[in-house]
Amino acid sequence: MVLDRAGAVEQMNAQACRFFELPDAEAARGVALERLAGDEHRIARLARTVLASGLSAQESDLRLARRQDADALLDVAASPLFDARGDADGAVLVLRDRTLQKRLLQLEAERERFQALGQMAAGLAHEIKNPLGGIRGAAELLARRAADAKARETAELIVREATRIAALVEDLMVFARGEALKLRPVNIHEVLDGVLALIGLDELSAGVAVERSYDPSLPEFLADPDRLTQVFLNLARNAVQAMAPAGGSLVVATRMTLDHRVTTPGGRLVPTLAVWIEDTGPGMAEDVRRQATTPFFTTRSGGTGLGLAVADYWVTQHGGMLHLDSELGRGTRARVTLPLRRAGAAAAPGVR
Ligand SMILES: Nc1ncnc2c1ncn2[C@@H]1O[C@H](COP(=O)(O)OP(=O)(O)O)[C@@H](O)[C@H]1O
Ligand SMILES: [Mg+2]
Repeated sequence: MVLDRAGAVEQMNAQACRFFELPDAEAARGVALERLAGDEHRIARLARTVLASGLSAQESDLRLARRQDADALLDVAASPLFDARGDADGAVLVLRDRTLQKRLLQLEAERERFQALGQMAAGLAHEIKNPLGGIRGAAELLARRAADAKARETAELIVREATRIAALVEDLMVFARGEALKLRPVNIHEVLDGVLALIGLDELSAGVAVERSYDPSLPEFLADPDRLTQVFLNLARNAVQAMAPAGGSLVVATRMTLDHRVTTPGGRLVPTLAVWIEDTGPGMAEDVRRQATTPFFTTRSGGTGLGLAVADYWVTQHGGMLHLDSELGRGTRARVTLPLRRAGAAAAPGVR
């Protein structure tokens, strides 16, 4: 993109327009870069520095927040332009997209992390399950034979807690089994309606108004419907829990996009399906948002911290991505993108 000496956009190519979510260069012409990116954004500062000093400069890993899409990660090289008299007369900014590269690295790291977690889970399950079964059985026996109410309550507490641990270990086993996806043609709206029906049964969802915004033109695509149900159930549950007890509104939206370079090597554009689950809950602080998909990270008493980790796992297995956007006091938007793999299409990119 080219800036004039005041820092306003003179020219912008299609790629740059996409970074800034502008329909075309016309929409940007004459607009100050500060207004596009924000005054204090590093790209704005970089441009100011170059315009003021007349020297080239560059910055890497600039994050550009976007409304429609996941944040973009850019390397930017800025060089001054000079007029015929040799006076500074604007700047050229070359934007290089690092999102894909970063995402591939991240995906690899994530797979390694899940693998390590899987090994740990398998070991844990092996060591814990049998003794736990013993404890539960013994406590059940104690409860039945208890001489008084106090003793029975205590024994029942042991049963309950042992059951809870068993369920936790079972959840963890998701990472250990390395189960393959069972792909078949899926209608995403049926999956989402199923999830909403399940959520509707939840007593927490009493004050929640559900708004569906489905794109009816979405075709069936190859995916594992049971796993996707689990993904969206975990996301919708979090949304409902976040809004309890006051309630609020839950938006479930689907869209087709072309923009997302999911995980194809070489960064080909793949038709992509996007699903949003949006709530009007309290939102998350940035450090919570960043850790939210980490296994066992939870801020809820009684939470396991596995909901988002499991969701992220299955989305990743589908070759897709899970993004969380959140603002304190405004709410949270979980955005899942999945490669739209048509039935009968060749083997899936990014799916193992
Ligand atoms: N929709 C949401 N709104 C606010 N915070 C959320 C939302 N979804 C997830 N979180 C935060 O992320 C954490 C991890 O979520 P999750 O992995 O589902 O585990 P759990 O629900 O057991 O706490 C939650 O404890 C909460 O702090
Ligand atoms: Mg949860």
